[in-house]
Amino acid sequence: MLVSSFDMMRDAHEKGYAIPSPDFVDSNSARAFVQVAEELHQPLILSFAEVHLKHLSLEEAAALGTYYAQSVQTPVALHLDHGTGFDIVERAIRLGFTSVMIDASAYDLQENIARTKQVVALAHECDVYVEAEIGRVGAEDAEGPHALADISYTDVEQARQLVEATQVDSLAVSVGTVHGTYQGTPHINFERLAELNQTLRMPLVLHGGSGTGTDNLRRCAQGGIAKVNLYTDFITAALRQVREQNPDHWLKLLETGDEAMKQVLRHYYRVLGCCGACA
Ligand code: 13P
Repeated sequence: MLVSSFDMMRDAHEKGYAIPSPDFVDSNSARAFVQVAEELHQPLILSFAEVHLKHLSLEEAAALGTYYAQSVQTPVALHLDHGTGFDIVERAIRLGFTSVMIDASAYDLQENIARTKQVVALAHECDVYVEAEIGRVGAEDAEGPHALADISYTDVEQARQLVEATQVDSLAVSVGTVHGTYQGTPHINFERLAELNQTLRMPLVLHGGSGTGTDNLRRCAQGGIAKVNLYTDFITAALRQVREQNPDHWLKLLETGDEAMKQVLRHYYRVLGCCGACA
């Protein structure tokens, strides 16, 4: 069932678990993610990232996302990941996305506030959930390896000002993760996460979930992170599995990739404490 993220994010934050938010890039990945959520009877925030527009148009992503969400019983929100401007966010909302991210984190605080505020005004009129970002998760794109040195942690006071001024629904924070493949060992700044959680008292979002490690992610989920964004681990696992099994038929290759992605998502549901039943 297609829903907005309001209830699921509130529940996750209150109860100390996190909802996985995988980025789909085609019908196979979208279908695989939704099928796992349905199989485990768990909520899903199905994401499509602006950076993947070269693989799927926004219209295609909206049609696929809404179709698969509506085909199951379990609640599924369709989310625009890393929307960089008002225009794409507005188009996503008109096309049926129920949750959007406006990522103005590259700008200074005042500009981030102004851009986020404009999106919140439109989205809330349409009952669409909004995520903003402040701080820097350390990657220009989500494809290659990224140095840990790129990270700049979210400043607590700036985050407080952004939330107060914009009334945004959730906030992506930078506490030590990076998009893509880690070049070193991830060190999560749990102290900063605790300060942010205590000050903001709202659902927080962790980007760059892949490769962050089971214990780190579990602690994040218990410490205020209500959604974890994931991408790299799915495509890495699919490719690895295809190489290992070396299927001799195209359809078998697709099935192999789908199954690999499903296994990764099942793993993250367990790690994030989302499904008590399978912890
Ligand atoms: P990873 O590719 O590191 O899992 O990050 C995904 C992400 O944060 C998308 O917004």
